[in-house]
Amino acid sequence: MHTRLLNHWLGLALLLAVPNPVPASAAAPLTPPVITTGPVLQCPMETSMTVTWITDRKTTAAVEYGPLQGTLKTAVASHHGLVDGNERTHKVTLENLEPGTVYRYRVISREIVNLRHYRVDHGEAITNVFQEFRTLDRRKQGYDFLVFNDVHGQATNIPNLLQAAGPKPYDFVIFNGDILSFVTNETQISAILNQAVASFASTTALYWVRGNHETRGDLAPQLPAYLGLPGDRYYYSFDHGPVHFIVLDGGEDKIDEHREYGGRADFFRYRREQGEWLKQEVRSKAFRRSKYQVVICHMPFPSKQAADPKRTKEPGAFLGMPDAFEQFGATLEKAGVDLMISGHMHVPAIVPPERGRHSYPIVQGGGDKGTNRTIIRVAVDQAGLSANILRVNGSSFGQCRVPTRR
Ligand SMILES: [Fe+2]
Repeated sequence: MHTRLLNHWLGLALLLAVPNPVPASAAAPLTPPVITTGPVLQCPMETSMTVTWITDRKTTAAVEYGPLQGTLKTAVASHHGLVDGNERTHKVTLENLEPGTVYRYRVISREIVNLRHYRVDHGEAITNVFQEFRTLDRRKQGYDFLVFNDVHGQATNIPNLLQAAGPKPYDFVIFNGDILSFVTNETQISAILNQAVASFASTTALYWVRGNHETRGDLAPQLPAYLGLPGDRYYYSFDHGPVHFIVLDGGEDKIDEHREYGGRADFFRYRREQGEWLKQEVRSKAFRRSKYQVVICHMPFPSKQAADPKRTKEPGAFLGMPDAFEQFGATLEKAGVDLMISGHMHVPAIVPPERGRHSYPIVQGGGDKGTNRTIIRVAVDQAGLSANILRVNGSSFGQCRVPTRR
């Protein structure tokens, strides 16, 4: 760390001492750049971890990382042969990590003072203090994880709910959709991510699963730039301990042609595409060999009551969940899963299995108001899964116990 800073200051001193061939108007400000958001740990896997952060101006983006004892490496991201790093929003995925291993990491950003055809000059580097994380590990016997849903932009609910969830350890945190009500500016995203960092996300990684509200607003198409998403998709799977997790993106709850979407929605086609992926996914070794399979989806689409389009004043409009059931329901039922974790309805519920629809329970977190604000704490061990819905005041709404089937 010191060597890098020393080199850097040396470089800066030389830069100031030598006549600058660039016009004064093009010179960079003397103040170093500032990290305004993060760094945030996102999308943990057994062999990878994504680090995201935002700077107040365009900078390069690198992550220095390594085991607690031993040599550090530097990772950068690149696209089409060019290293990312003349942006304000940064995302670097650390790869080829060892499962169940603690790593230290810090981010490094340097302003590009001049970017010309045959010469690039850098400004001062900024970094954060080293933090630590542990990668996931399918050999782990048991652990806890937490699930938030429907925070709807109220970042201050995060520490309150976290307190209700009880003490650490928990191995990761899932943001299960509608963490924002809409995505219209970076400040909204930063407020949530910075609160996550203040509460846990510099050492415990999060998955941000998209809810229907995060599809709304003019910045919604750019949301992936701020999130860790495997393969840049909102639907994927991962393994930790005896559990294989499937993350689904239910899309919007109404028909694509609904006036609210102004012609921007294409979710019926998107869910068909995702349904095809899901058919392959449940055939994977990871799915078949895991002791438990858990589905994470913002909308509780298999629930007959929740998916009933007649439950609203616009019965012809709310066909998103029935379509999700059509695209995903039979595949999940045939493959056999143990538990689904959802939100969206703004009332906590433990939906028991319903014949012909879902043979697994659905644990549904609450909403964004009063005691309906909940967090779900799930304990995993060899005997089963235990999902506890905890209200913001610390009381339990209910617990769902799923014993092992094998
Ligand atoms: Fe929702």
